[in-house]
Amino acid sequence: MDMRKVLCFNFSVARSEPLDALRSLDWTIFSTGDLNEAKNLIDHHRLNVGMVFFGSLRETGLSAINDLFTARRSMEWIALLAPEALNRPDVCELISRRFYDYHTLPLDPERLQLTLGHALGMAHMLERSTACSDHKHEEEMVGCSPASLKLFRTIKKIAAIDAPVLIIGESGAGKESAAVSIHRASARCDKPFIKVSCNGLPPDVIQSELFGYAKDRHNRTQRPTKGRLEAAAGGTVFLDDIGNLSGDLQADLLNFIREKTIRSGNGTPETPIDVRIIAAAQTDLKPAVADGGFGEDLYLQLKSLTVNIPPLRERQDDIELLAKHYLRLFANGDGCPVQGFEPEALKAMRRYDWPGNIRELISRIKRAMVMCEGSSITSADLGLNDCHPKFANTLDHLMTLEEAKDQTEKEIIQLALQVTENNISRAARQLAVSRMTLYRLMYKHQIRSHWVEESLGIAARK
Ligand SMILES: Nc1ncnc2c1ncn2[C@@H]1O[C@H](COP(=O)(O)OP(=O)(O)O)[C@@H](O)[C@H]1O
Ligand SMILES: [Mg+2]
Repeated sequence: MDMRKVLCFNFSVARSEPLDALRSLDWTIFSTGDLNEAKNLIDHHRLNVGMVFFGSLRETGLSAINDLFTARRSMEWIALLAPEALNRPDVCELISRRFYDYHTLPLDPERLQLTLGHALGMAHMLERSTACSDHKHEEEMVGCSPASLKLFRTIKKIAAIDAPVLIIGESGAGKESAAVSIHRASARCDKPFIKVSCNGLPPDVIQSELFGYAKDRHNRTQRPTKGRLEAAAGGTVFLDDIGNLSGDLQADLLNFIREKTIRSGNGTPETPIDVRIIAAAQTDLKPAVADGGFGEDLYLQLKSLTVNIPPLRERQDDIELLAKHYLRLFANGDGCPVQGFEPEALKAMRRYDWPGNIRELISRIKRAMVMCEGSSITSADLGLNDCHPKFANTLDHLMTLEEAKDQTEKEIIQLALQVTENNISRAARQLAVSRMTLYRLMYKHQIRSHWVEESLGIAARK
């Protein structure tokens, strides 16, 4: 069987001449500009390598192609683009995160052929490695919102600095995932990552968990056992809910961070231990420091590398991607009758507030897959059909009339774009406004802002 098959996804259907160079390649090329067809081709031919030709990038938002990347995990991607495209930060960001390599026009078929061969080799490697650890996808962080892309960049930067980290975020927002990602991207990646929760356990239990011994009531040391810090030697210890650590333990931890040693029993010498501490809290610790609940010195040690993980409701662009990612993961490829989401379900997910963040999204998708009677998940399957928390008549959530109008305006524009598959003229006609008004409203509501900005001639703001 010939393995040299490659998908060429053509973003710019209007311009295909640069791709003529591909004809001379010794590869079978499946070319399309349609996202669904691309996904079908990937599935059907079990493609391992894909190319994305970015063309002029005017027609479509970049986020649309995120769908391609979830189609088949072990696929490697090569970007083909005009040299000017490299001036765009969002393009560079996407390429550095998602692509194996990039080639600029005019294409050099010989060099491209070489890259394709390497990419195929890497894809096979990836396939083999993911076959060995099938829990891996479940831990992968995905996201395409500006906040997520910033988070991924921060994780990469912080991984390279060997110092304590503080991660702040609501429950289920991805603190532990971020900690794992930092560990995996760091030089400590082949050493242990160990989690210790500082919540719900008595201080002496946490003490012995961490340091491997406990003081009894008379402050004598009990029989020494190996603690988590020692077990993680060379690696990372993730201290979840650090805000709940008792005062004594805060002092011990501060001492450990400063001295990098522990005393594993009474009279025993200090043992040097090299462990990176990553701590997590659900809210900023500053107020706790101010009212004396959290030690200022420990806070200062931790806070210099702080990662803030925004709640899911502030990362609207991630919701659909995450939902599809998890549906695909749980459906496990073939055979599962549930294949996608009804548009109204996607809309309900966008409107919902997600107090439990990504963890809640995962459990709602699992629930929906059980409840779903057709091939597409509905808002009712997700348990979101009669939920309108933003409009809800609860004390903290009631909107002002102005906010509600704004919200409705944004939603109806998004719906019109969805229905017309982002055809601006048709969407404008549908909404009975001019194209220019629609562009302005899209800009106002930050809907696909980068190409709206281009169309309006507004320079992208930093
Ligand atoms: N960016 C992400 N992409 C995909 N899944 C994520 C992402 N962030 C978190 N998750 C998943 O969401 C769930 C909750 O994340 P977790 O890191 O445990 O949150 P926290 O520690 O803030 O409570 C986990 O199942 C995790 O794998
Ligand atoms: Mg957690």
